[in-house]
Amino acid sequence: MTDIPVDATDTPTPRRKPKPERTEIGGRPLKPSTLMMGHGYDPALSEGSLKAPIFLTSTFAFESAAAGKRHFEGITGKREGGAEGLVYSRFNGPNQEILEDRLAIWDGAEDALTFSSGMTAICILMMAYVSQGDVIVHSGPLYAASEGFVAKVLSKFGVTYVDFPAGATREELDEVLKRAKKQAGENGGKVAMIYLESPGNPTNALVDVEAVKEARDANLGKPCPIAIDNTFLGPLWQRPLEHGADIVAYSLTKYVGGHSDLVAGSIAGAKKWMDPVRALRNTMGGIVDPNTAWMLLRSLETVELRMQRAGENAAKVCVFLKSHPKVTGLGYLGDIQDARQQDIYDRHCLGAGSTFSVFLQGGEAECFRFLDNLQIAKLAVSLGGTETLASHPASMTHLSVPDERKAALGITDSLVRISVGIEDPDDLIADFAQALEHV
Ligand SMILES: Cc1ncc(COP(=O)(O)O)c(C=O)c1O
Repeated sequence: MTDIPVDATDTPTPRRKPKPERTEIGGRPLKPSTLMMGHGYDPALSEGSLKAPIFLTSTFAFESAAAGKRHFEGITGKREGGAEGLVYSRFNGPNQEILEDRLAIWDGAEDALTFSSGMTAICILMMAYVSQGDVIVHSGPLYAASEGFVAKVLSKFGVTYVDFPAGATREELDEVLKRAKKQAGENGGKVAMIYLESPGNPTNALVDVEAVKEARDANLGKPCPIAIDNTFLGPLWQRPLEHGADIVAYSLTKYVGGHSDLVAGSIAGAKKWMDPVRALRNTMGGIVDPNTAWMLLRSLETVELRMQRAGENAAKVCVFLKSHPKVTGLGYLGDIQDARQQDIYDRHCLGAGSTFSVFLQGGEAECFRFLDNLQIAKLAVSLGGTETLASHPASMTHLSVPDERKAALGITDSLVRISVGIEDPDDLIADFAQALEHV
């Protein structure tokens, strides 16, 4: 025994060891909303900081020269197992890895990759899978930039496409894939990817993912991946990997980010589908930055709450709009008029979302009067934020779409697109009611 008083500065706390990850309790798997608070991050590795710090560094120190060699053997394929750990911030970083682990949970995916925008994710995904002579089969409509990337950019490298309308049946899909296979054969390539967007923007037309998988298996065999843009309903209201898709893509800018204050994207799926995309991202860059990744970790803590509230609000707003004399129709997944679309909804969707189209009496002038008189809802493109947004696709996001294609897709001058946020629903209804008086 010593009578010298204990001086805290002389007795440093022993270094804490990382805790094993907890993903179940008593055999009960933890739900995504619980895992969003801590999964993939251990405070012991960051001085006890409860929240992950933002790791602003371009490079990471190796423990030894041998560890550096081992890493490069992994990435160059000289050693099985690929890269280990963190090396350089174009490849990965702690914030991005925690984010990717948490995003994978929502879709039940083995692996996920994050990007600087939804379009970076989609472009790098497609480029990783196509070669000269290949064909991409895609549903229509797609987000205009995705459609443009296939038709105007990939075409410069000898890649062609075949598109089909969102609601296509199994028989129609068989015919489309046979045509695509023939086209690929003539060009000396293969059908490299089936790319879907469901629901389509702005009409909310749904794609039958199960039928696409059956048609793919019957006509092409397995190596051709089915990718789907799940931005409008994911991650809460649609889980496409459970219905036969191999890769799910997101603009995280929308519901996942959810506050209209960042731009980012992601893909998720089995590791074997992610690996070629990761390799191309390592070469090109395009990974989300650490600050944005940190903001997305914060967003993921409330994504379920926000989406639930927005979905409830949209249901209430649509009941009001449907009964209004100046409203001639709704493109809302909670009020589908077509039996086949309803069947796809019942099999694939867990909620109707909060982004929909509303058709007003009249045309552009009436829609503009409605939009210009909104007091709470903001007049802006984008969707899935905490605030309600409204836009006029025919004269804004879809202005460059040729008139015949707009007509075929049902994008008329009387269509207003609304993305409902998490405000008080009665305030929103009051706002829409007064704006409709100006129509
Ligand atoms: C369905 C869909 N996919 C992809 C994108 C592109 O995402 P980002 O703007 O994050 O690049 C958008 C953007 O509006 C979108 O609506």
